[in-house]
Amino acid sequence: MKALIVCTSKSHGNTRKVADTIGSVLDARVVDPSEITAAELADYDLVGFGSGVYWMALDARLREFVDALPAGQGREAFVFATSGLPEPKFRPYLRNLGDQLTEKGFEVVGGFACRGLDTMGPLALVGGLNKGRPSPDDLTSARGFAEQLRGRFA
Ligand SMILES: Cc1cc2nc3c(=O)[nH]c(=O)nc-3n(C[C@H](O)[C@H](O)[C@H](O)COP(=O)(O)O)c2cc1C
Repeated sequence: MKALIVCTSKSHGNTRKVADTIGSVLDARVVDPSEITAAELADYDLVGFGSGVYWMALDARLREFVDALPAGQGREAFVFATSGLPEPKFRPYLRNLGDQLTEKGFEVVGGFACRGLDTMGPLALVGGLNKGRPSPDDLTSARGFAEQLRGRFA
């Protein structure tokens, strides 16, 4: 099984930590959308897509990358995110990304989310929300998630 992870992480590298943890289990390269072309995805059986949450949405560069992919992908995908706050019910970031991927012909086989250090605006004055996160426990959970994904191909 050959896996790739496409990740944008522009604030503290929180999402990149999760991506690298999942990537180490799946033996997957982790790339920014600018480092990969749509055509290159054809080399992979499983592709992960993740980003931080900014202004109540996943990063536009990740969403635009998915938007630009040709339909009929016919491969498996998973989604992940880090955020300052839990996902609001009226704004299901990961489900929306999953729906976008499904439209492109991916089979979405899992999702992972955890909190990340958030120093947006006035939160910086108090050292931020979720200090130390993703925590070692968060990364252990990410590893468990990746092991489940890997098990699908065993
Ligand atoms: C400009 C900005 C806007 C943000 N907006 C939100 C938000 O709407 N909801 C939320 O839960 N977290 C928000 N956050 C917190 C980030 O989602 C959180 O810090 C995340 O872990 C950042 O991931 P990164 O370090 O990979 O960029 C925001 C952070 C920044 C810098």
